[in-house]
Amino acid sequence: MGGGGGGGGAARVGLSRLMSVAFVLLALSGFGVHAGRSRIHKKVHGGGGGGGRHRGGGRGGTVVWSPAVPPADERTQPVTPPPGIVPSDPAVPAQPEQCVFDVRAFGAVGDGTTDDTEAFRAAWKAACAVEAAVLSVPSDGTFTITTTTFAGPCNPGLVFQVDGVLMPPDGPDCWPPSDSRRQWLVFSNLDGLTLRGTGTIEGNGEEWWNLPCKPHKGPNGSTLRGPCDSPTLIRFFMSRNLRVEGLRVENSPEFHFRFDGCSDVRVDGLSIRSPETSPNTDGIHVENTERVAIYNSKISNGDDCISIGTGSYDVDIQNVTCGPGHGISIGSLGVHNSTACVANVTVRNAVIRNSDNGVRIKTWQGGMGAVTGISFDTVVMENVRNCIIIDQYYCLDKRCMNQSTAVRVADVSYANIRGSYDVRSAPIHFACSDTVPCTNITMSEVELLPFSGELVDDPFCWSAYGLQQTPTIPPIYCLQDGLPDALLDNPDLRCR
Ligand SMILES: *[C@@H]1O[C@H](CO)[C@@H](O)[C@H](O)[C@H]1NC(C)=O
Ligand SMILES: *[C@@H]1O[C@H](CO)[C@@H](O)[C@H](O)[C@H]1NC(C)=O
Ligand SMILES: *[C@@H]1O[C@H](CO)[C@@H](O)[C@H](O)[C@H]1NC(C)=O
Ligand SMILES: *[C@@H]1O[C@H](CO)[C@@H](O)[C@H](O)[C@H]1NC(C)=O
Ligand SMILES: *[C@@H]1O[C@H](CO)[C@@H](O)[C@H](O)[C@H]1NC(C)=O
Ligand SMILES: *[C@@H]1O[C@H](CO)[C@@H](O)[C@H](O)[C@H]1NC(C)=O
Repeated sequence: MGGGGGGGGAARVGLSRLMSVAFVLLALSGFGVHAGRSRIHKKVHGGGGGGGRHRGGGRGGTVVWSPAVPPADERTQPVTPPPGIVPSDPAVPAQPEQCVFDVRAFGAVGDGTTDDTEAFRAAWKAACAVEAAVLSVPSDGTFTITTTTFAGPCNPGLVFQVDGVLMPPDGPDCWPPSDSRRQWLVFSNLDGLTLRGTGTIEGNGEEWWNLPCKPHKGPNGSTLRGPCDSPTLIRFFMSRNLRVEGLRVENSPEFHFRFDGCSDVRVDGLSIRSPETSPNTDGIHVENTERVAIYNSKISNGDDCISIGTGSYDVDIQNVTCGPGHGISIGSLGVHNSTACVANVTVRNAVIRNSDNGVRIKTWQGGMGAVTGISFDTVVMENVRNCIIIDQYYCLDKRCMNQSTAVRVADVSYANIRGSYDVRSAPIHFACSDTVPCTNITMSEVELLPFSGELVDDPFCWSAYGLQQTPTIPPIYCLQDGLPDALLDNPDLRCR
């Protein structure tokens, strides 16, 4: 905090639901300790639209106060009740108090240009120390912060509530030289964090996409040398029991979300959006993470909608709409002869439109490990290239040598996959390894027709074993019964 010095800036106010917030603010305003940092903002955002009141999520239904309610002029006085006074809601006396830590009370300005990093760090520190705390980013501000790790352990029930706009500095030239260029918001070592809100996390990614090192940015599709690191917008690391709900997240410099080393993650109701031409802007990337639910979200971007990397288990994806983009992808796996394991991934009730791929599994030659137990069930395709694709020859520069090992792909089912394909590619493409063929692929009710133009009636199919439970459209003839002999020699790997 820039010279504020007062760590006690938390707005620890619990109110019964109909009490006039403005009145209470006036009553408490004498306790403000940050007058030197506060500024009066005349800008009134009419569009606050109901975002003002927040219910204590699941915490006994306590209605908590957030400064989004009163008009801007009154709000800018930070509120600090005297120590020891924690008003409680008489209607629910037995419930735990939910404490709101408004970043403005810690000196954040939220005018779109001031660096509010220190205020966020101070607010986090205070919220982390209290049970069932809400760090609040109010709806009428645009807050800029630099690369920050919000680290735990923290007390249970912590909520990071973004109702306004939160964003990083605008592009590499504005990035503080000492900050990581690989990540921006990092949540690490947490148990039970919820990130949610009605606001927007704006990535300001454009300058990063235009770095000359990015694919297709050099002349004639070449790439030029130069620094290439670009930050993942929101990264969760070594954490569990996470929820991410309701936010709009857009224009990330690189991946929008990355979960690594986490477990028990639930993502619900996100809207993720970047231009179709933005490179490497995967919507949600998951790796080394288990028990992940991704529900009811809409993702459009310039790379994978959802990408699932090694060490991912028990991933449930439902009601996701993707596109434009590169579809839902497992992989790439096994790069540089590495061992990769992914198991038990379900994708159900998805819509994929205007995408370079639909549902994809991609592995490199030379890898080891396995992708098993994958179910794609009820997916609507609309003008998608490679609607269904398994590629065990994945390679970025077309110069990869075939190897004697590969990440095994087994027990993959495609059920009720319908819609239309872009005729520039075969709608079904199984390119499996000679030495480690794909096995137990089952297909039922797969019906894909050209979006426009002529039927592509020669799906690509190589070294694939499995069963058509109902005839597919277009028909494929190459799925072989049983198991290949070669597989019997493949040492079974260190997957669980
Ligand atoms: C790009 O391609 C065009 C046409 O082939 C060629 O005339 C031009 O020199 C190329 N530019 C560069 C920088 O390679
Ligand atoms: C697969 O993952 C789901 C969660 O998505 C879980 O409920 C189920 O038990 C897992 N199945 C196996 C066999 O582990
Ligand atoms: C998926 O959407 C359907 C229909 O809106 C809804 O009933 C169902 O609860 C959703 N599934 C999840 C996991 O949210
Ligand atoms: C992978 O292993 C093959 C065969 O042993 C070797 O030729 C190749 O150089 C290895 N590749 C990498 C990236 O280590
Ligand atoms: C690798 O193997 C596939 C399948 O047998 C074959 O089509 C392809 O030409 C091979 N690639 C190389 C570089 O040898
Ligand atoms: C084939 O895969 C399905 C899941 O798609 C699984 O239920 C079944 O047990 C597998 N069959 C064999 C023989 O492994």
